[in-house]
Amino acid sequence: MDPVIAIVGATGAVGELMCRVVIERRLPFREIRFLASERSAGKPIRFGDQTHTVLALSNEAFRDVDLVLASTPATISRIWSPVAAEAGATVVDNSSAWRMDPEVPLVVPEVNPEALDRIPKGIVANPNCSTIQMVVALKPLHDLAGIKRVVVSTYQASSGKGATGLADLDAQVRALGAGHPVPAAAAHIDRLAGNVLAHDWKPGEDDNSEEEWKMIRETRKIMGDDSIQVSATTVRVPVRTGHSESINVEFHRPITVAEARRALAAAPGIILADAPGTQSAPTPLGCEGRDEVFVGRLRADPTVPYGLNMWVVADNLRKGAATNAVQIADLLIRSGNIKRR
Ligand SMILES: NC(=O)c1ccc[n+]([C@@H]2O[C@H](COP(=O)([O-])OP(=O)(O)OC[C@H]3O[C@@H](n4cnc5c(N)ncnc54)[C@H](OP(=O)(O)O)[C@@H]3O)[C@@H](O)[C@H]2O)c1
Repeated sequence: MDPVIAIVGATGAVGELMCRVVIERRLPFREIRFLASERSAGKPIRFGDQTHTVLALSNEAFRDVDLVLASTPATISRIWSPVAAEAGATVVDNSSAWRMDPEVPLVVPEVNPEALDRIPKGIVANPNCSTIQMVVALKPLHDLAGIKRVVVSTYQASSGKGATGLADLDAQVRALGAGHPVPAAAAHIDRLAGNVLAHDWKPGEDDNSEEEWKMIRETRKIMGDDSIQVSATTVRVPVRTGHSESINVEFHRPITVAEARRALAAAPGIILADAPGTQSAPTPLGCEGRDEVFVGRLRADPTVPYGLNMWVVADNLRKGAATNAVQIADLLIRSGNIKRR
């Protein structure tokens, strides 16, 4: 029997897109519910050509639910994901609440689908958006030559901060275009229009930000290799959707650009958009609305024994969140792994 699905955080930037991706990918279900905060309860929500009503999060809302696709702030997930799991559902959670819990698999289907074989808490974590697109690109290269060290700098879109982050940039851009005073930042730490913010994240436990620590730790967990060194600098840029990353990789063994190109071209979920000798490269606008990770500007780094540089771009709301979560849900449903526990 097809599952009963609940989309939690259905009114948010990721939640809205999850609804769309559920339809696009034809996820099978016999009933679907849309949950959010009290603020949204009772409001209509479009799902394909149907209109549903948003329900407030409650114990009752999870009755008979088999699969939850959650995208709320981590504080909310910490409370409600265990409630849903206790009620018998398997939860695929987009927040950072459970990612580093050793009893919660952290999954990118192109990289470590086998992690779904064990879901002791009934919760599966979707990784951070910047981490997802990076590990999709790193995995085929790791298999080829063993990754020793990664130095990554991100160029992250305003929608990475949800619906309010997007509204913040849009309001500032509109004011700039109209020659009006630019409104003060509401979601980001400072004005984003015409600016670049390397400090738009909570401080981490040392001088790295929380976002930088997510990239370091989540990469090791997903790749199943704690020896991989990751040095990250995360930066917000005035782009609506689509994160870009400059990635420098140092390998244990020799690897040529031609070998890397062949491996990337053959890997699932990757579009090799690399045309050496031309001025073409993947862009956030070019990747918006796409589910794949785009890799370009592949070139040797001769400053280390075995090194490569690449430019990796993906839609942060799709592959960085909604698509990855729905791919996980799809694997769970089709493997029969969400039978009521
Ligand atoms: N944006 C990205 O690129 C991205 C990528 C990967 C992961 N994530 C993660 O995914 C999660 C959602 O992100 P988002 O960008 O979609 O944020 P968002 O646009 O702010 O949406 C947040 C959602 O959570 C709901 N919510 C907030 N407080 C709630 C409460 N007290 N009770 C019940 N529901 C509540 C909101 O409902 P109301 O509308 O009723 O307030 C809304 O549906 C976050 O944990 C984020 O870190 C985001």
